[in-house]
Amino acid sequence: MTGLGRAVDAALEASVVPGFSRIGLAARSRLLPEFTAGDPPAIGGKTVIITGATSGIGYAAAVALAWRGAAVHFLARDRGRAERARRDIAAASGSTRVSYGLADMEDLDSVRDFARRFSAEHDRLDVLIHNAGAIHPQYRADEAGTELTVLGQVVAPFLLTRLLLPALADAAPSRMITVSSGGMYTQRLDPATLQLPRSRYQGVTAYAKVKRAQAALSGEWARRMAGTGVAFHAMHPGWVNTAGVAAALPRFYRALRPVLLTPEQGADTIVWLATMPPQRLGSGRFWHDRRPRPEYPLPWTRGQAPGAARELWDHLDTATAAWL
Ligand SMILES: NC(=O)c1ccc[n+]([C@@H]2O[C@H](COP(=O)([O-])OP(=O)(O)OC[C@H]3O[C@@H](n4cnc5c(N)ncnc54)[C@H](OP(=O)(O)O)[C@@H]3O)[C@@H](O)[C@H]2O)c1
Repeated sequence: MTGLGRAVDAALEASVVPGFSRIGLAARSRLLPEFTAGDPPAIGGKTVIITGATSGIGYAAAVALAWRGAAVHFLARDRGRAERARRDIAAASGSTRVSYGLADMEDLDSVRDFARRFSAEHDRLDVLIHNAGAIHPQYRADEAGTELTVLGQVVAPFLLTRLLLPALADAAPSRMITVSSGGMYTQRLDPATLQLPRSRYQGVTAYAKVKRAQAALSGEWARRMAGTGVAFHAMHPGWVNTAGVAAALPRFYRALRPVLLTPEQGADTIVWLATMPPQRLGSGRFWHDRRPRPEYPLPWTRGQAPGAARELWDHLDTATAAWL
């Protein structure tokens, strides 16, 4: 990389609005070798699962991966939206190997059934992408008292990973990609306070805590699975113009709309991580715009990070055991 590329990338990394927006991607895609060396390669013969491909970043990633030759199987919660997405992804990518299974990430029984059906019908899984996510403005919990942001974006992805790990291990070298968010930067990982009580619930804070947990768990999976050929990557997509952002953060959306990334641009690093040779990527790192980034740019958020990740992983291991 040239000195100019390094300097511009570092300045963007230190900034927030330019770095997370199309301004940052435009500069990086001209200057960084990860972009100038060419497009992500084809992955014909590989099978990908992605959650949340009915819209936004997940939809764009599904199109890009199907176009590059992968068989794409996505998880969706609504049959009508799923069928429309399947048709649209197939038409946009020219692929006939696009399918879906129905499950709601906020219902662990349905997540278990999704994984069982997939394993019965497919003989390999090369890439598992945890993308489904949302900010919940109001506090809601399931019957067991688990708040739905935590249930759908921490507990359910953990369960899905556990259920699909044998298929990933059989296909090694294989990988899991977790779509986190730069919103996590303000939060430290504390398993004891991951779930906000109803009385102090704020959707954006709940989301940021969950996104911190997602990245930390990705690192913990990488540590526990080292040497197996299954790699774990977490990433943040930047600020992307999607229905999810428009609905959950209307003022933010109106103010920053001109510089928001397109869903295709937001999916770029997911596609990069799904397709690049494993030795280029390692395992257990946090990515943005095709480069590993610091997980704790605000030092006070680091806390007891490695120990807290181990504690959360152990807790989830116990909490999900009944669904195996
Ligand atoms: N957009 C951004 O600026 C931004 C920034 C940082 C991180 N992210 C992350 O990127 C990911 C995708 O977000 P997006 O902006 O593309 O939002 P989006 O357009 O709202 O897409 C979210 C996807 O997740 C699915 N989903 C949500 N809850 C689900 C559940 N309980 N079960 C199954 N599927 C569910 C949605 O399905 P339905 O069609 O059924 O609703 C949809 O397909 C999320 O993890 C988000 O946190 C986005």
